[in-house]
Amino acid sequence: MEINVLKNYEELSSTVADIVEQQLKEHPLSKLVLPTGSTPLGMYKELVSRELDWSHVITFNLDVYLMNIDHPESYQSYMRKNLFDKTNIYPDHSHFPFRPTSVFEDKMDGSMGIDLCILGIGSNGHIAFNEPGSSFLSRTRVVDLSEQTIQDNSRFFGSVDDTPKQAITMGLGTIMESKKIVLMANGVNKLNILNVAMNGEVTESVPASILQNHDNVEVYYCD
Ligand code: GLP
Repeated sequence: MEINVLKNYEELSSTVADIVEQQLKEHPLSKLVLPTGSTPLGMYKELVSRELDWSHVITFNLDVYLMNIDHPESYQSYMRKNLFDKTNIYPDHSHFPFRPTSVFEDKMDGSMGIDLCILGIGSNGHIAFNEPGSSFLSRTRVVDLSEQTIQDNSRFFGSVDDTPKQAITMGLGTIMESKKIVLMANGVNKLNILNVAMNGEVTESVPASILQNHDNVEVYYCD
């Protein structure tokens, strides 16, 4: 699979923001799946600055930690701070995975109706919180986070002890039903896993490798 290498983080952010902007302008009623983490922060900043019309858009987040949703590091807080509070999206148009997860999937209408899904990638090849070993058929569910992911995400919580150990994530099967998928990755520490995922064996040991089976995926990287 082709990995589009961009000059720098600004170009990565604006390129993916361009894709979202085009989607919203061509299809104001779009359903989007949105990521969290440090990589998409620039994209959200860029989107906010463009003052797009989000009034008909429906969003679903890829995943949430199982934790107090008012905590500043919850993904709900992240989305409010970086996108929702700064656009005209209707609060009841933005959804986060919840239990019972089958009801969340019903709300998404499976995920067949998702027009555009933006993804990041974890250092162990996870997408959303589908850790290595996740079934390619998996749906939205509660998961235990891997040691690696807890370690990686502890930078947001100050210590491993304070980092959530469980999450609710869309499944790989759920994500794959999106009509278009864009994966963004930033930093040399992601380059090796990105190459393995995009050009190595398609295997449940590398969750992002499932994207090789999708016919409308674009991958953008900068170091
Ligand atoms: C978390 C999220 C993923 C994200 C990954 C990478 O684990 N659940 O959706 O892709 O982090 O985050 P970062 O962009 O901070 O490297």
